Amino acid sequence: MCAKQVTKIGVLTSGGDAPGMNAAVRAVVRTGIYHGLEVFGIYRGYSGMIDDDIVQMNSRSVANIIQRGGTILKTARSKDFFEIEGREKAYKNLAKRGINGLVIIGGDGSFRGAQKFSHEFDIPCIGIPGTIDKDIAGTDFTIGFDTAVNTAVEAIDKIRDTADAHDRLFIVEVMGRDAGYIALHSGIATGAENILIPEAKTNIEELVNSLTEKEKRQKLVNLIVVAEGDEFGANEIAEVIRVRLPQTDTRVCILGHIQRGGSPTCLDRLIASRMGYHSVECLLEGRNNVMVGILNNKVHYTPLDKAVKAKQKITDDWFKIVKILAS
Ligand code: F6P
Repeated sequence: MCAKQVTKIGVLTSGGDAPGMNAAVRAVVRTGIYHGLEVFGIYRGYSGMIDDDIVQMNSRSVANIIQRGGTILKTARSKDFFEIEGREKAYKNLAKRGINGLVIIGGDGSFRGAQKFSHEFDIPCIGIPGTIDKDIAGTDFTIGFDTAVNTAVEAIDKIRDTADAHDRLFIVEVMGRDAGYIALHSGIATGAENILIPEAKTNIEELVNSLTEKEKRQKLVNLIVVAEGDEFGANEIAEVIRVRLPQTDTRVCILGHIQRGGSPTCLDRLIASRMGYHSVECLLEGRNNVMVGILNNKVHYTPLDKAVKAKQKITDDWFKIVKILAS
């Protein structure tokens, strides 16, 4: 807990953008103003903090944004914030305005920066998990995941139509640098035959055998969903299959950044609004260095270092579901 009363707060979005970030910014700004705080928007994440790109916000500054993807504050991955000189510059820009509390909406890289900053300087930092990858511990949801996964599902459904028309095997690569959640959720929801994710070792022999066995049963339409962070990318898997099963008509589709855009789903807007509201309450209660998450539908605070260190685990039953339902 932090003893000093927070009076002026800054809010920033950092790292990869995620649909719903605007809803969180809106919630922070309006909750802050409700409590009589001055609220400042910091542009381009930590880069704007260093470059003094900071603007005071009012309720109207966040009008008509809850439904918009991207982030009105823009975002960046700041290299300079890794250096103490960068953080000192950032601190001075906050101090000259009297900003004495920060809300950081971002992923684990952004939380690492926040943790360092709040240890070095006397400014409490509250994290809100905003990443489509869902690779943060201490929360069932991260802002943007639900929208991204629904975008992936819509795209994969369309791919299945054409796969079905041609009796083809499609390998679809979805985002997730170190985490397979988008692949796992979108793969199960679209009835993928195989899902390859970084959390599980990819066994090429097993994959080839399962496709051979399906071919024997005249199951010619197959869908493999691969997470970007898997040890083999979609193209590499396709190459193996083309060599080992040359009779299989194989195509690759990499969904890419389409998964990061678009209007946030109701769920993303809702969790962003709840998390944004509670982040300000947290600062007013004197908390520091925690992430506001939602666990079992209850608001849950996790120390930033724990949210960063311990990624969520994917339990064996998930893999069992994929195997049994794809038969
Ligand atoms: O924000 C997470 C993420 O979308 C990852 O899934 C992906 O690997 C990465 O960001 C892409 O980052 P960039 O937009 O900088 O290429």
